[in-house]
Amino acid sequence: MSAVEEASLPAIAIRDVQPADTAFIAAIYAWHVQHGRASFEEIPPDADEMAQRITHLTEKGYPWLVAEWQGIVVGYCYASPYRSRPAYRYTIEESIYIDASMTGRGIGGELLGALIARCEQGPWRQMIAVIGDGENNVGSQRLHKQLGFDAVGHLRSVGFKLGQWRDTLIMQRPLNQGDWTLPS
Ligand SMILES: CC(C)(COP(=O)(O)OP(=O)(O)OC[C@H]1O[C@@H](n2cnc3c(N)ncnc32)[C@H](O)[C@@H]1OP(=O)(O)O)[C@@H](O)C(=O)NCCC(=O)NCCS
Repeated sequence: MSAVEEASLPAIAIRDVQPADTAFIAAIYAWHVQHGRASFEEIPPDADEMAQRITHLTEKGYPWLVAEWQGIVVGYCYASPYRSRPAYRYTIEESIYIDASMTGRGIGGELLGALIARCEQGPWRQMIAVIGDGENNVGSQRLHKQLGFDAVGHLRSVGFKLGQWRDTLIMQRPLNQGDWTLPS
């Protein structure tokens, strides 16, 4: 990378979510809910609802990270239970959203890499990404592939959004020793 290219990259800080981030997060997600196909929600949650979602997960110890650039939150990434039944307890689902004006600059890679590292400090052994409109979401596929996920499933036409049937692509990666060892 040339010095000019390097200088044009934003200096991003990755950190744990704070209450003051909620409005930024709600705004980032609202754009993707209204205009994107990765989320199968159709009505954006307001900041109060988003605050409740964040608290619900972080109080239980699930990591929620944000990317901050010049004092503004430009992306976020979090882990949540994959499913609620107890035998799923070592499996988490990951979600990531970057401000629509800031995609393609490496922020997703930094955030997801940090989330994986954080989750590897916890008890979990598998991480799942459920990618809405997966076949067409090339950015998300590439991001996850780069960070060790494999495509393991493809659900056809399970969503209907923005006037079309939408698939989901399921990607998965092990955390720590995955299923090579039993949990302690
Ligand atoms: C998917 C998403 C998180 C990627 O974040 P990002 O900051 O744009 O990703 P990065 O800049 O770190 O790029 C990661 C890789 O994806 C590629 N990529 C990113 N956007 C792309 C696009 N629109 N088309 C093709 N490739 C793309 C990058 O080139 C890079 O691959 P490379 O290093 O081989 O070139 C972001 O685009 C986003 O928020 N999308 C909408 C929501 C979504 O799809 N979330 C994921 C589903 S849970």
